[in-house]
Amino acid sequence: MSRPVLIIDFGAQYAQLIARRVREIGFYSEIVPCERAAEAIAARRPQALILTGGPDSVTAEGAKALPPAVLSSGLPTLGICYGMHLLAHALGGEVTSGQVREYGRTDLSSEPSALFTGLPRYLTVWMSHGDTVMRPPAGFKAVGRTRTVPVAAMEDRERRLFAVQFHPEVAHTDRGADMLRNFLVIGAGLTPDWTMGDAIALAVERVKEEVGSGRAIVALSGGVDSAVAAALVHRAIGGRLQAVFVDHGLLRQGEADLVEAGFTRDYPLPFLRVNAEERFLAGLAGVSDPEEKRRRIGAMFIDVFKEAAERLPGVEFLVQGTLYPDVIESGGGQAAVIKSHHNVGGLPAEIGFRLIEPLRDLFKDEVRQIGRELGLPERLVDRQPFPGPGLAVRVVGEVSPERLALARAADAIVTEEIERSEARRDLWQYFAVLTGARSVGVMGDGRTYLEVVAIRAVGSADGMTADWGRLPAPLLERMANRIVTEVAGVGRVVYDITSKPPGTIEWE
Ligand code: XMP
Repeated sequence: MSRPVLIIDFGAQYAQLIARRVREIGFYSEIVPCERAAEAIAARRPQALILTGGPDSVTAEGAKALPPAVLSSGLPTLGICYGMHLLAHALGGEVTSGQVREYGRTDLSSEPSALFTGLPRYLTVWMSHGDTVMRPPAGFKAVGRTRTVPVAAMEDRERRLFAVQFHPEVAHTDRGADMLRNFLVIGAGLTPDWTMGDAIALAVERVKEEVGSGRAIVALSGGVDSAVAAALVHRAIGGRLQAVFVDHGLLRQGEADLVEAGFTRDYPLPFLRVNAEERFLAGLAGVSDPEEKRRRIGAMFIDVFKEAAERLPGVEFLVQGTLYPDVIESGGGQAAVIKSHHNVGGLPAEIGFRLIEPLRDLFKDEVRQIGRELGLPERLVDRQPFPGPGLAVRVVGEVSPERLALARAADAIVTEEIERSEARRDLWQYFAVLTGARSVGVMGDGRTYLEVVAIRAVGSADGMTADWGRLPAPLLERMANRIVTEVAGVGRVVYDITSKPPGTIEWE
């Protein structure tokens, strides 16, 4: 296996993002907390080091220190933000605290250097700092400055030490990935040698080690994450993985059959489908409160899954498709509960299995790429996100079979029309909501009093924030006409122009 680029974490917000960029450039990377840097350098024999940012100020008491092993290793090193301050401080440069603060986009002017090879002289970079390097240590050359910061980037080519005040890993920094590549390829003199195929092989090895000769089960939701986690674990342990797909009757048109075909015909693995539509609909009868719906669906899902698992003796492990953004979202513990997410598909550990989460260091688009490499059908890999509680949270008010059928039919029209149009490329999700409102209309010569459907289409990078989609009027018109004429029971269509925040993507 490749020797890693070791990312030494000083409490950064963006350590995983750095790791991800390094992977994209073609290097294997590992993250270690700074307290364990010395042993990791000795044990992992890294090719290069990256020191992350962090919340401390180098001059403050109790601030995280630069582990001596970093400099004594003689390895090529890049310091980012706090990592830069640590290098400057340790090597005799001047770092001041609190005199210059920069947050957000800043204009950088660069000098000819390893870090900026092939890049325009003026770039926009993303800053977030209170400490500043005013004078570089001996042997370093300042190679970037901003209006207020004299040393925004510095390098010592001979010792292969590099540092930047800004964050090259975030998307707001122009050509940031090229700067990281320049550090690794030009500054450190390394050759990219890591591919998605290697990443898969490593993940497969880890699962093999964890599961040994045991058996595992995976709850397939029909979404990308559980599908890719299943395929990965299947590659590691083959028929000792059993997939259980609970059809709760709240899926989109044709979805349950699509999932079944995907996993029995196109990517065959031991697959059990449990049809539980009647049970879920009975459990939801008379319930209108959104949180109560989510709670009941979550509880029923666990019951049905457990019953299925009891029929499969000897299973010790549960595979989950947890991604890195899910880990972050649940990690804080500070955030107010807006909705009880992940109550379906994300089964609680207390149900008695040991958890395997092979995707927990990865981002959604990386997971899609892995799915493709593993040979999952494109129809499964390229789907829009869909909430665990399914259409139940898109039918405002009581979920009856009739109302569910209206929501499903309207949703199928929205999906079909948007997937046929150019607009799709810019959208994260698009669907129909049965709003629970009724309105008066006129059809033929008679008065109608029918349900109102809302079309929801949003652009988003990760679902955390979202912007309403500026869809072309002819597309909106086509969807509205088709819904009112083809879905008997719907008399009016509105378009939701609320962003997140203040709205959420789903209506419930
Ligand atoms: P909201 O509505 O909170 O949704 O803006 C953000 C993203 O999460 C999806 N979503 C869920 N996913 N279980 C899930 O697995 C849930 O209970 C759930 N609720 C919302 C939603 O579709 C959007 O992509």
